[in-house]
Amino acid sequence: MYFIGNWKMFGSVKSINYINSVIKLAKLSKFKKAKIVYCPPYTILSEFVKKTKNTKIKVGAQNCHHEKNFGPYTGFINAKMIKLIGAKYIIIGHSENRRAGDTDKLINLKVKSSLSENLQVIFCFGETLKERKKNKTFQVIKKQIYMGLKNLKNLKNIIFAYEPVWSIGSGKVLNNNDLESQIIIIKNYLKKKFKIKNPKIVYGGSVNPNNIKSLVEIRTLKGFLIGGASQKSKKFIDIIKKSIN
Ligand code: PGA
Repeated sequence: MYFIGNWKMFGSVKSINYINSVIKLAKLSKFKKAKIVYCPPYTILSEFVKKTKNTKIKVGAQNCHHEKNFGPYTGFINAKMIKLIGAKYIIIGHSENRRAGDTDKLINLKVKSSLSENLQVIFCFGETLKERKKNKTFQVIKKQIYMGLKNLKNLKNIIFAYEPVWSIGSGKVLNNNDLESQIIIIKNYLKKKFKIKNPKIVYGGSVNPNNIKSLVEIRTLKGFLIGGASQKSKKFIDIIKKSIN
C-alpha cells in the first residue's frame, strides 16, 4: 500500500529531521507493506535522498518541465535532472499545477519524459466541484486520463491518483460508496481503453488520521496521496498505522 506525502511548497533543510520517526517506522517488519514516498519541494530533494538512503522510503518530485533534454528554460527542472538527483517518483498533473497552466498536452509530454527516465509517475486527475455538480465527473476524468496518456507505450510505471479538486485541503471526502464506485469506473476505463491489467489507483484529498480507517475499507485502492497530513510526521504515522494491521 502506497503512502505518498506531497509536501507542496512547504519545508526547508531543517524540516528533514521531522521524518526521523517515519524512517524508524519503515524499518519495522510490521510495516513492510507500506510503500512510503516523500515528494518534497525541489530545494530539498537531494537532502531527502541522502536522508532516506538505505531505508525503504523513496523520494519523488512534485512536477517537472516538459522538455526532456537540457535547455534554455530559466527556472525549470526536467525529469532527467530529477532522476540524476536520485529521486524515483514524480507527481504529474496535480490540480494545483493544472490550474497554474499545465495543459493536458504539457502533462502528456511530462509523463512521457518522466517515463523515459524510468521514474514512477504519480499521475493526478480529478474533477472540480462545478464539474461534479453538472454531472461531468467521469467525462472530465476520462479526458484528463486519455489526453495525459496519449501515445504512451509502456504504462506500467504509472500510479493513478484520483484527487477530486474540491476535496484537496478542504476536509471534504466522498462517502465510501460513491468513492468506491468512482474508483471502479476509473479502473475499468484504464483496463479497457489502455489495456492495463491491474491499474494501481490511489486516492488523494483531505486524507487524515480521522478518515483513514474508513478509506482503507475500499479494497480497490492501492494507497493514498497525502498533502497536509504528510507534513506532520505524527499524523502521517497515524495514517500508516491505521491502514496496516
Ligand atoms: P491534502 O492534499 O491531503 O492536503 O488534501 C492532497 C494533495 O493535494 O495531493
